[in-house]
Formats: sequence, structure tokens, C-alpha cells
Amino acid sequence: MKKLFLSLRQANVLAKKKVSKKKWNWMSCGSEREETLNENLNSFKKYKINQEILNDVSKLKMDKKFLGVNLRFPMIISPMGYMSQYNKKGEAALALGAYNRNTFMCLSAVSAIKIDEIMKLNKNLNIIYQFYSLKPKKWTIDEIKKITKLGVKAICITADATVRSIKYDIMEDKYDARKKGRIGLPKAPLQHMSKLNWEDIRWLRKQTKLPIIIKGVMSLSDAQKSFKNGADMIWISNHGGRVLESGVSSLEALCKIRKKIKNKQIIFDSGIRTGTDVFKALCLGADIVSIGRPAIWGLILDGANGVSRILDFFYDEFKSALALSGCTNINKLSKKKLTNM
Ligand SMILES: Cc1cc2nc3c(=O)[nH]c(=O)nc-3n(C[C@H](O)[C@H](O)[C@H](O)COP(=O)(O)O)c2cc1C
Repeated sequence: MKKLFLSLRQANVLAKKKVSKKKWNWMSCGSEREETLNENLNSFKKYKINQEILNDVSKLKMDKKFLGVNLRFPMIISPMGYMSQYNKKGEAALALGAYNRNTFMCLSAVSAIKIDEIMKLNKNLNIIYQFYSLKPKKWTIDEIKKITKLGVKAICITADATVRSIKYDIMEDKYDARKKGRIGLPKAPLQHMSKLNWEDIRWLRKQTKLPIIIKGVMSLSDAQKSFKNGADMIWISNHGGRVLESGVSSLEALCKIRKKIKNKQIIFDSGIRTGTDVFKALCLGADIVSIGRPAIWGLILDGANGVSRILDFFYDEFKSALALSGCTNINKLSKKKLTNM
């Protein structure tokens, strides 16, 4: 494999150089003044890792069972749309890059590359399938039949982006991602997005046995409602600071929700940039962490191989953090490993 970048930091720098400023801004920006975006990144700095020395750390347990697959470590790739503007193979390359490292990619509802085409790359790809809207019902039922047959492993409903958010960079750049990369209708009819509600989730529960994940949960009450209405898992996320401006950081939401929700799987994203971020999110109660933008840096630089390489760097950084903190087993990570400054 070509070694086009030698660290996560370098991936960020080189990817930025490789694409136009407008294309870069579209992906890296957040809503409005980017307070939520910055809060996501800064909230990790409020925690310091407690070090324990003289533990034998020569053998580490980092693997994790998730949706029937034994992940090498608990990281997956978040749904992101319009990816063919960064690499011709777009979402297909993200899926393959994840699969080649034994993990999952969640396919965005606005991918111009359709699931049938993606699964042709390899019928065993680990895919979670994202919806923004569950209407019209007939369309949703047909989609569920199709994806179940294709071997999709779970359904994700993104619930935090029911209307378009305000992003100054995109507005000032006059950048329309829908017209870049592969042009095609998004896989979903989007005109019903703003009508999404709990009734839809109860309805969905009756239509499928696939695990249902609600993405965009940011409060304890919404976490409780998610499970009450039929979700199997929640995905704590504020869309990487791209939707509601001036909300709490995703890490803060994780702390609050995990205090009360004990026996349910939680996926976490928004702001993970280093192995120590992974470590901290797991200590605060995430079962699985997910990355958004860093996967795109890899995609820009080297397609599917670049995505795999980004996952490798996260693996190496996380492994180093685990061992150097004196911990040998990811299942033993807890708040006790952190100091809140
Ligand atoms: C360019 C871009 C496109 C995105 N598109 C979607 C999408 O189609 N569906 C979705 O649920 N989330 C989408 N998201 C949000 C991501 O799934 C994820 O929550 C977020 O990127 C995580 O934050 P991070 O980038 O700081 O890792 C998108 C994010 C980015 C950066």
C-alpha cells in the first residue's frame, strides 16, 4: 500500500491541500459561528487520562463484537453524503475501506451511489443503512425489503437534521454539493424529512427485525424515548456540529446519558480526532465510536486504501493510549481512568 500520509495530522494537512477551498470548507465547516463544532473538539480537552505504571501491558484486549462482527477495535465510519466529490468511488470507497479493516460504514441517505452498486464490490460489506425520512411508507417498505436481502446489518434513522441548517461557509461560497461529483438522485425522497416523528419509529419497528439505531440523540429524555419506541441502540451525535448551533458537545451528552442508561449499546460521534479521544469516549460510556471528517481525509488522499489507513492510525494511537495508561482491556475502561479538569 502507498504511504501517502504518515500520521492523522498529516492526513488533515495534505487532504486540505489536495482539494479546492470551497470543497474543503463544505466538509469541514459547522453551522453558523461553529460554536458546537468547536465545543465538540474542546470538550475532549477537559478530561485528562490517569496513568498507572508497572502493569504488564504486553497483551491488550481491544476487539469488540458489534452487530455480529468482531471489530478489531470499536470504531466505525459515520454516514456522510455527496462523497463522490472527494473521490470518484465516494461512499463505495468508504464502505470498502471500512470492510478491509473489518468494520462498518453507515451509508448516507443522500449517497448518489446506490446500495446495490456498493454491495457488488463485495457482498459481505458491513453496512448500516441510514434514512432521513420514513415516508412515503410504500417506498420505505420497498427499501427495507431490498436492503434486508442485500445483507445490510442495521438501520439508522438520523433525527437531528430535519430541516436544513445555516452554514455560513457554504452560503458565502455559493457551494452546492448536490452538483459535484457523481450527480444522481439521493437514495431517499427528502421532502418529508421535517415530518419525522416518534410514530414513524414505532411504525418502523413493526416493519423490520433489523436492529434500529436512532442517530442524533443528545439528551437523556430522547434516549429514553428512543428505546421506548423501539430502537435497539442510540447514536449520540450532533452531526459533527453541522446542525443545531450552540448546543452541548456530543461528549457532554454522552456523560449525562450514560449515567442513567446502563444496559443499551451506545454509538458515539462528533469530534473524535485522536486515539486519546477514542479512549476518553469509551471511558465515558460509548460502546462504539465513529468518525466522520477524518475518514474523508483518507478518501481524498487515497480512496478506500486511504480510509483504511486512517482507521489504522486511529488503531495505533488508541492502542498506545491504552497501554501507556496502564490498561489492558477495553471492557475495563471507565470514568475512573479520567480526571475532569
Ligand atoms: C461532509 C459531511 C456530510 C455528512 N452527511 C451526513 C448524512 O448524510 N447523514 C448523517 O446522518 N450524518 C451526516 N453527517 C454527520 C456525520 O454522520 C457525523 O455525525 C459527523 O461527521 C461526526 O463528526 P466528526 O466529523 O467530527 O467526526 C455528515 C457530516 C459531514 C462532515
